Amino acid sequence: MGGQYLSPMTSNIDISAPQTRRMRLDSPSETADLAQQLGAILLPGDVLLLSGGIGAGKTHFARSLIQSLLLTPEDVPSPTFTLVQTYDTAVGELWHSDLYRLTGPDEAIELGLTDAFETAICLIEWPDRLQDVTPASALNLEFATTDSEDQRELTLTWQTARWDMLQTVLP
Ligand SMILES: Nc1ncnc2c1ncn2[C@@H]1O[C@H](COP(=O)(O)OP(=O)(O)OP(=O)(O)O)[C@@H](O)[C@H]1O
Ligand SMILES: [Mg+2]
Repeated sequence: MGGQYLSPMTSNIDISAPQTRRMRLDSPSETADLAQQLGAILLPGDVLLLSGGIGAGKTHFARSLIQSLLLTPEDVPSPTFTLVQTYDTAVGELWHSDLYRLTGPDEAIELGLTDAFETAICLIEWPDRLQDVTPASALNLEFATTDSEDQRELTLTWQTARWDMLQTVLP
C-alpha cells in the first residue's frame, strides 16, 4: 500500500492551501450536467468525497457521473447495502461506495478501498467514516439542501494542484 491516503503530515503528495469553489445547482439536471463535466476529466487515482445529509444529492451526482462514463449502459444502484459497486469506464475501473453503514476505517481497508484510491476512480458517499484513511489528495464535494426543493448548494474544496483547474473549467 502506498501512502496517498495518509494524513497531510505524512503524505508523499504536495498539500497546498485549501481552495474552495461554491455553486448553486437549481435542478437535478444541473447537477447531472456538472457530474458529466467532472466525469470527463477524471483519471484513475482520483477520489471524489461526496458529503451532505440524507437526500442531499450524493447518489444522484454519482449516478449521473457514472452513467456518462459507462462503456455499456447499465443500472447504477445506490451502494447503500452492497457498500461498493464497481464499473468499467474507458479510462479504467470506477468504484462507487456508500460508507453510511461502515463501522470504521479498518473495514474500508478490508473492502480494498484504500488500494482502490490509488488505482481506480473512486466516488465515496459518507466519507467521514474513513477518518484517518481519508485521502488528502481527494476532491471534496459537499451538497446542502436549500429552501427550494429542487435546489442544492455545492461546495468544492481541495488541497492539491490536481484540482486547481476546476477554477477555470467549471461554469
Ligand atoms: N439540484 C438537485 N441536485 C441533486 N438532487 C436533487 C436536486 N434537486 C432535487 N434532487 C433530488 O434529491 C434526491 C437526492 O437523493 P440522493 O439519493 O441522491 O441523496 P443522497 O445524498 O445520496 O442520500 P443518502 O445519504 O440517503 O445516500 C433525488 O431524488 C433528486 O432527484
Ligand atoms: Mg446516496
